[in-house]
Amino acid sequence: MEKNRRLWLKQIGLGVAGMGLTNFDSLASPLAAEKLTTGFKDEANLIYLRSNENPYGPSPLARKAFVDHATISNRYHWDIETQLIAALAQKHGVQEENIVLGAGSTEILDMVAKLASSNKGNYVIADPSYDYWTVTLDTLGLTKNRVPLTIDKKLNLQAMLEAVNPDTKLVYICNPNNPTGTICEREALVAFVTKIPQNTLVLIDEAYLDFTQQQSLCTMVKDHNNIIIAKTFSKIYGLAGARIGYAIANKTIIEAMANLQSNTNNSVSVVSKLAAIASLKDTAFVSNCYSLNEEVRHYTIKELQKLNCECIASTTNFIYFSLSKYHKDYFKQLENNGIQGGRIYEEEGKWTRITVGTMAEMKQFIKAIQ
Ligand SMILES: Cc1ncc(COP(=O)(O)O)c(C=O)c1O
Repeated sequence: MEKNRRLWLKQIGLGVAGMGLTNFDSLASPLAAEKLTTGFKDEANLIYLRSNENPYGPSPLARKAFVDHATISNRYHWDIETQLIAALAQKHGVQEENIVLGAGSTEILDMVAKLASSNKGNYVIADPSYDYWTVTLDTLGLTKNRVPLTIDKKLNLQAMLEAVNPDTKLVYICNPNNPTGTICEREALVAFVTKIPQNTLVLIDEAYLDFTQQQSLCTMVKDHNNIIIAKTFSKIYGLAGARIGYAIANKTIIEAMANLQSNTNNSVSVVSKLAAIASLKDTAFVSNCYSLNEEVRHYTIKELQKLNCECIASTTNFIYFSLSKYHKDYFKQLENNGIQGGRIYEEEGKWTRITVGTMAEMKQFIKAIQ
């Protein structure tokens, strides 16, 4: 088992050098990619633990797809979107008409924001939650209605339900929640969604659901016209820079969203689409990433606790923890050690978030803050 894992790490470019990797393989390794794009002084030691990316990706099959298909980028290849949508429909047990593609789930969130904002009103969102995308909602005139988390940093579904009023156009549920890493029980979420009025959109962001054992809510779109599920290839599939996301919803919503994209399904390049198709086939990569993430996350939480940092139980590839009992200057320690970490989310309790990198990266992270 251990031998297999070492072999796999070597194959994806994180093992020892000299395994006969092509130039592209070594460029595609996460640390090499960062070297190309950042101005850090000591680039060899740069550790990216800020954006919840996958430190092992893209998968070997996706890398091969990028290389093999780069030369067809001179054509539009409209047929490739059909192949990707068919593969996604099969994976999620829905019809092809239930899916629209976007350049990352950011574009999906943006399309939903525009859809919801066509009439004035408000939207309901947990606080803190993933809200970088809500500037579109604010700019287009919706009022933000923030609902605090519970004391154990979970979404307060009851309070979110109570916050919905006749003017609510959209409710956003990030499950698992970013930045806290907490998950709603599926049954509670199904009950919640069912109670939301039909004329209010419910956007369920499942960016991190692949790091859990919980089943997606995507088949609910068959019976619920107001549910939109946002999915991404940026996290467990390791394709953040390739920008591939998609929405699953009922046909009418998908058509309305598609009308907000001038070239429907084609903000994603053909090469990225082919890499996504290849990634869906690389189930070994996904399950290896899943178990490595679990192992490294457990290690990191244990070490953070030894440093008096209270950690919220995480179901994701990041950890939310408190710096209120940590006695050094955390951010200075990170900076001095070439580590990019998260920010403070809640001043009270000084909560921050760290991405789970490779075991070697997390050992350096812990050493840096000890
Ligand atoms: C909860 C959540 N949703 C959506 C996104 C957007 O990801 P992408 O646009 O890369 O799919 C992120 C990125 O970190 C995220 O954390």
